[in-house]
Amino acid sequence: MSRMFVPGPVDVSDEVLQAQTRPMLPHRSKEFEGIFRRASEKAQQLFFTSQRVFLVASSGTGLQEAAVRNLVDRKVLACVNGAFADRWYEVAASNAKDAEKLEFDWGQPVDPARVREAVRRGGHEAVLVVHNETSTGLQNPVREIAEAVAEVAPETLVVVDAVSSLGGSLIDMDAWGLDMVLTSSQKCLALPPGLALAAVSDRAMSKAQNVKYRGWYFDLVRMEKHRLKDSSPATPAMSLIFALDHQLDRILAEGLEARFARHAAMARRVQEWAEAHDQSVYAPPGFRSQTVTTVKNERRIDISALNAFLGERGMRLANGYGPLKDITYRIAHMGDTDLQDIEQLLAALEEFLARQGKSA
Ligand SMILES: Cc1ncc(COP(=O)(O)O)c(C=O)c1O
Repeated sequence: MSRMFVPGPVDVSDEVLQAQTRPMLPHRSKEFEGIFRRASEKAQQLFFTSQRVFLVASSGTGLQEAAVRNLVDRKVLACVNGAFADRWYEVAASNAKDAEKLEFDWGQPVDPARVREAVRRGGHEAVLVVHNETSTGLQNPVREIAEAVAEVAPETLVVVDAVSSLGGSLIDMDAWGLDMVLTSSQKCLALPPGLALAAVSDRAMSKAQNVKYRGWYFDLVRMEKHRLKDSSPATPAMSLIFALDHQLDRILAEGLEARFARHAAMARRVQEWAEAHDQSVYAPPGFRSQTVTTVKNERRIDISALNAFLGERGMRLANGYGPLKDITYRIAHMGDTDLQDIEQLLAALEEFLARQGKSA
């Protein structure tokens, strides 16, 4: 199997690929509805929530759009310190919402104090925040941000993009008071792309009831009516649900704490390796992603040549994203990747650097 150290789509185990090959069922059958319910109930554990989890045939961006269409009538605050947060702001603006962009330096976390000041001025129906910025490899302090919002604007919903972290590091939705947390299948869950998951609180559902023009496909109120019958308004991505059902068993068998610890150990190893080889990690200590490390390419490694070299060894990593494309590269350590895989990658990186006369 290839080793994809890119931040999604990541490698999918043979077992999970196999689970997709199960024959189709009528989607309105008891048999399929049972699998749909089971998968959605197991998924609640990933979000640390007793709230509903929707399984949607879409990538994560679809649910970024669902969040703004369902939870915002007029005004929303988008916290932006990276490329995917910026995309979410654009999603909100392009849905004709009055989107206020609260910008931060991309190398710094979203500051809860500034969020508090912004929402104190009032009128924001929701705050959008990306937990794990896949462009910068930075993890935002979502818990503290949610606390800051609750302090001064308790009616404002807190909506979190956990596309590249849910299942890889802790997001305690209920304890942290989050209203919607969304993710995609192709990252920490180590599934093929095409499925998106969102946990949504009761108060977010009540808000949605009163928001106009929620659209049809991503209408959470419509989805909820169907979910209560273990179903979805439109045909579900059945093969992906089979895969999710199987992969959730594997994830829960590993144990979430063990899974988070595995990711943390890989993150530490990659960070230490980068620093030991005269390269800095883009995100500051204390806010570094557990699932993807963005390294400043201070040694001017030719990433295309590196990937050609890695490709001969069945591996691949990612160059920078957006404006960071040519000045950083990214090593993902998410999904089913383990420390041994990371050691193999780092050994190959060292061999490449040595061949280029760049060994430390
Ligand atoms: C943090 C974050 N948000 C949103 C997205 C978009 O997700 P998708 O590609 O599943 O639509 C990505 C994709 O990489 C991401 O990393």
